[in-house]
Amino acid sequence: MFARRVMVVGTGYVGLTTGACLASLGHEVVCADIDEAKVGRLRRGVVDIVEPGLAELVAEQTSAGRLTFVVGAGAALAAFEDGRPAEVLFLCVPTPMGAGGVADLRAVESVIEEVGAELAAGTVVVNKSTVPVGTAARTAELLERTDVAVVSNPEFLREGSAVKDFLGPDRIVVGSDNQDAAERVAALYARLGAPTVLTDAASAELMKYAANCFLAMKLSYVNAMAELCERVGADIGDVTEGIGYDRRIGQAFLSPGPGWGGSCLPKDTHALLQVADSADFEFRLLRATIDTNTRQRQRIVDKVRLAVTGKRTGSLSRVRLALLGLTFKAGTDDLRDSPALAIAALLRQAGAELVGFDPAFVEGKDGAAPPTEIDGVPLAADAVSAAQGAEAVLVLTEWPMFRTLDWSVIATAVKRPIVIDTRNIVDPATLRRAGLTAVGLGRRGEGDVAA
Ligand code: UDX
Repeated sequence: MFARRVMVVGTGYVGLTTGACLASLGHEVVCADIDEAKVGRLRRGVVDIVEPGLAELVAEQTSAGRLTFVVGAGAALAAFEDGRPAEVLFLCVPTPMGAGGVADLRAVESVIEEVGAELAAGTVVVNKSTVPVGTAARTAELLERTDVAVVSNPEFLREGSAVKDFLGPDRIVVGSDNQDAAERVAALYARLGAPTVLTDAASAELMKYAANCFLAMKLSYVNAMAELCERVGADIGDVTEGIGYDRRIGQAFLSPGPGWGGSCLPKDTHALLQVADSADFEFRLLRATIDTNTRQRQRIVDKVRLAVTGKRTGSLSRVRLALLGLTFKAGTDDLRDSPALAIAALLRQAGAELVGFDPAFVEGKDGAAPPTEIDGVPLAADAVSAAQGAEAVLVLTEWPMFRTLDWSVIATAVKRPIVIDTRNIVDPATLRRAGLTAVGLGRRGEGDVAA
């Protein structure tokens, strides 16, 4: 394998993971970010994000001399050993959802503006961020360089297992209208031995949306099925186990929940809808996937209302509720598009008084004190304190620690013994033994909650 000189612009989840992992594959990597303070922290080995193994990998690769951090893309160009030029430039800058669900490409544009003209002939520019179909072509136009190829190499890593996903991918996708450049990018990953799909740029760009929207659809389907289970007296756990044995369906990604969230699925479903709209294609299946997810949040609020007041139209005014888990899923401190926070906002609108607890915010970052509130939800130091005087405890994120909490202690803290487990992770029998009433999603014998 040839070690390449790789420049990574953007040190967010994708950029930092890409930089550290490519360094661990033997490449010489320079990571650039415009945030000076963040670069300072990274140089000291401080990683802001909660990502298993990432801080260790950054430290290991930095001391091995294969990973360096600089401020600004321009500085990265001059940061390789012996002043040699970068061979590959990875764009890992944010592509937030702008007006009307279209990805906002200003960060990509500004990197091109800053370093486009300085790149050595033969450099390959790689887009790793999820971008609308046609961005590789647009990047090439912005570059105005016939001697620099543009490649799309979407990243499929999940938060909470980013390093593991990067180094053990299901597949590598590389798309370009320049096959030689695509093959050079694919070769960076050769040591991983993963199946590699070499394709054109538009197909690679669409593949990322196709995957994430399929996953969102799978979850909306499961959440709808859980609701149907409640109405017909079936059990979602048994149903998903049964269908999951069908290899065409698979067991993964079949857990019902408060709705899908995070930095990718909501953004990508809206963006693909926008792509479809502009191609004059009415993607009803995708629209229904999104609508089902929006409705899921309201459905959780309806469940709380019924469980606490005994009525579908009961009032939640001044009802104290404990919210366990605020991140969009377990294993991360990411709050972006978190269903827990969306549900908290709906509950607050209904007049409820909220207290939250999330294990990701027990300690402050980089020596600072932990936050005292998140998005207007005051934080307690532990689950029992959050549950103090609550009329219901909601489990909103599937942190494993919630399974093993001492629920009998929680039972003595609450005002009323109701636990609404929106992730179906706590054993209902354990809750019952502690004297608590369990309400999950789509579980046999727990009754229905009509919308
Ligand atoms: C996702 C894709 O999985 C990843 O391939 C892509 O690169 C980025 O987007 P991520 O956003 O980290 O990754 O989260 P993921 O683990 O996929 O979960 C997405 C949402 O679905 C979360 O809100 C999660 O709680 C929810 N989910 C997931 C469920 O409700 N049930 C499940 O069975 C799985």
